[in-house]
Amino acid sequence: MILTVTPNPSLDRTYEIPSLDRGEVVRATGERMDPGGKGVNVSRAVAAAGRRTVAVLPLGGAPGAVIEELLAAQGIEVAPVPIAGDTRSNIALAESDGVLTKINAPGPELTGQEQELLLDTVRRQSRGADWIACCGSLPRGLSPSWYADLVARAHAAGVRIALDTSGPALLEALREGPDVVKPNAEELAEAVGRPLMTVGDAVKAAEELRGLGARAVLASLGADGQLLVDGAGVWYGSARVDMVRSNVGAGDSSLAGFLIAGGIGPEALSSAVAHGAAAVQLPGSLMPTPVHLDPAAVTVTPDAPVDRVLGEPVS
Ligand SMILES: Nc1ncnc2c1ncn2[C@@H]1O[C@H](COP(=O)(O)OP(=O)(O)OP(=O)(O)O)[C@@H](O)[C@H]1O
Ligand SMILES: [Mg+2]
Repeated sequence: MILTVTPNPSLDRTYEIPSLDRGEVVRATGERMDPGGKGVNVSRAVAAAGRRTVAVLPLGGAPGAVIEELLAAQGIEVAPVPIAGDTRSNIALAESDGVLTKINAPGPELTGQEQELLLDTVRRQSRGADWIACCGSLPRGLSPSWYADLVARAHAAGVRIALDTSGPALLEALREGPDVVKPNAEELAEAVGRPLMTVGDAVKAAEELRGLGARAVLASLGADGQLLVDGAGVWYGSARVDMVRSNVGAGDSSLAGFLIAGGIGPEALSSAVAHGAAAVQLPGSLMPTPVHLDPAAVTVTPDAPVDRVLGEPVS
């Protein structure tokens, strides 16, 4: 079982509009609501793979109730932590030319009591879990060391923990030795405080995060593939992709792929790459099921293309 923790989930409301004209009344031609949050996405991807998952979510108000309903309809088990504030609603404006504008709300502040209840729920639900995946930003009220605390607690209980977050919350958690962290290129650059120009730069940055405590670093580099840097060395994975439809949630799908394949070594990297590649070929934030995966299109090698320039069109 893979337990996911999303401390700041959202109800994602997407409006389809012809075009965004500032200051005008824009009439939507379609609208939809989805449960949102990086851990929620990981749970959706784990469930799509046919594996058991439970999503721990602080939920409050009408948006919280809608998230619970939507996830139940998708067959995803939720361990709700009731909160007094309203769960946030994030707005996405999808223009017909494919441009997406997102407005993310800060979300409610968690009280001291709610924070305790959240930790307690994670502790209870993690019994028998193979992994805990903690994903996304922290809501107001949670200290930047909150994930660090969670890593320490998970390890004390003998459960492995994966972390997909950024900024101070990531840096502080490193010292507790998370089993894997999954930054994308931008988050990795921010963590080491310098721009990354090549795959080689990303390898060095990932090694630096290991030096700060991470046991393994799964760095997703968008169209430039993925790196796994752990105690055994460096692995690089990439996959042939015929057509990119939407990269929304591709990183979350990759992390799910990594964890369901055991969460260690080149085989898990290969699964992460297969899941990322499948996710980008599906529209919206749809998560791949086993029929969408093409393991034959994945290459994993210990010889990372260190000179490859990040973000260049692939020939
Ligand atoms: N344009 C692309 N072409 C091919 N593969 C892609 C592309 N974008 C993403 N991928 C695949 O998906 C993986 C994850 O993508 P990315 O590095 O963008 O994650 P992310 O920024 O964490 O995404 P998110 O947090 O939105 O889920 C990549 O490592 C790669 O395997
Ligand atoms: Mg990500």
